[in-house]
Amino acid sequence: MRAAIVNQYGTPDTIELAERPAPTPGPTELLVRVHASPVTQGDRRVRAGDFPGFMATVGRLLMGWSGPRAAVPGSMFSGVVEAVGAQVTRFQPGDRVFGASMDSAHAELLVIDHAKAVAHMPEGVSFTDAAAVPFGAGTALPYLRELGEVKPGQRVLIVGAAGGVGRYAVQVARHLGARVTAVCRRDQEELVRALGAHAVILRESTDWREADETWDVIFDTSDVFTFEDARPRLAPEGRFLTLGLSTWSGVWDLLRSSRSSGQRARWTVVMNSQADMEEVAGLLASGAVRPVLGPSFPLAHLADAHRSLESRAVEGDVMIDVIAA
Ligand SMILES: NC(=O)c1ccc[n+]([C@@H]2O[C@H](COP(=O)([O-])OP(=O)(O)OC[C@H]3O[C@@H](n4cnc5c(N)ncnc54)[C@H](OP(=O)(O)O)[C@@H]3O)[C@@H](O)[C@H]2O)c1
Repeated sequence: MRAAIVNQYGTPDTIELAERPAPTPGPTELLVRVHASPVTQGDRRVRAGDFPGFMATVGRLLMGWSGPRAAVPGSMFSGVVEAVGAQVTRFQPGDRVFGASMDSAHAELLVIDHAKAVAHMPEGVSFTDAAAVPFGAGTALPYLRELGEVKPGQRVLIVGAAGGVGRYAVQVARHLGARVTAVCRRDQEELVRALGAHAVILRESTDWREADETWDVIFDTSDVFTFEDARPRLAPEGRFLTLGLSTWSGVWDLLRSSRSSGQRARWTVVMNSQADMEEVAGLLASGAVRPVLGPSFPLAHLADAHRSLESRAVEGDVMIDVIAA
């Protein structure tokens, strides 16, 4: 099978395309023929070895010292089950599935354990749409519901609302019944309103930290702001959610607020489960969540897809059409 390979951290030029032996599913695994896969900020980080701050060492210990431990990149996928191990009953050959595999999705075939983050695709949903949603929706759901404890009627601020996680955070917060304010650039206003934002703060003209209101949950997807930035704009028992943790002061914010009954800072590394993917499938099926698709590239042009993501000029999920010639 054809697979992308990254042996060393670096620029998109480090990505190669190679012929590899097809993987064989173990007794509890599925063999999936991959149809579509996005290139996410997570994929970019792993390719570049971009682990900021004190995560520089932790990231390399976890992901591989001089290059990614998993040579085949790609963390999200959709495709068709080609074969199943002897103990697999939930999935059958021919099933359309999607999910989060951590790695190995930028290849024609991947194996994933039947109990991990893989679920059936909803009827009528394309492979591209199904592959696009697990990264953003699979992050926004646990962040907003578990960490943020968002309840109907609460006020939620999404910073970076037009980004890879932000686009889904707006939709998930809306689905949870929140009143959603989005922070984005002027030319992204129409998009975030279409995704469900009730109100918009335009970065160019207004600093949300100086806004004349407070929120129950502030979800910073930009990795730019701190708990101290958010506190004056948080309700007395509000939650500040951050996707990135790279400074010791950020760690201290988590620790010192963890037992507080008042304002709290929260952060986690999302490891999606099968239940998460089933829930994402439900959101897709009901139309509560939809992807915003950016450009699509064949697998052979994965490096160009990474360049496109890095250009920051594209709006929407950058996709790999794995079965394209
Ligand atoms: N903890 C976890 O489990 C987890 C899970 C998923 C992702 N992540 C991390 O989360 C981060 C975000 O991922 P993503 O895919 O959403 O990235 P992204 O697509 O780059 O989105 C970040 C957004 O923040 C905006 N932004 C940047 N600076 C800003 C500022 N000063 N004020 C307001 N908005 C600002 C960006 O806008 P412009 O581009 O227009 O400037 C962009 O819309 C990445 O670092 C990723 O690695 C963590």
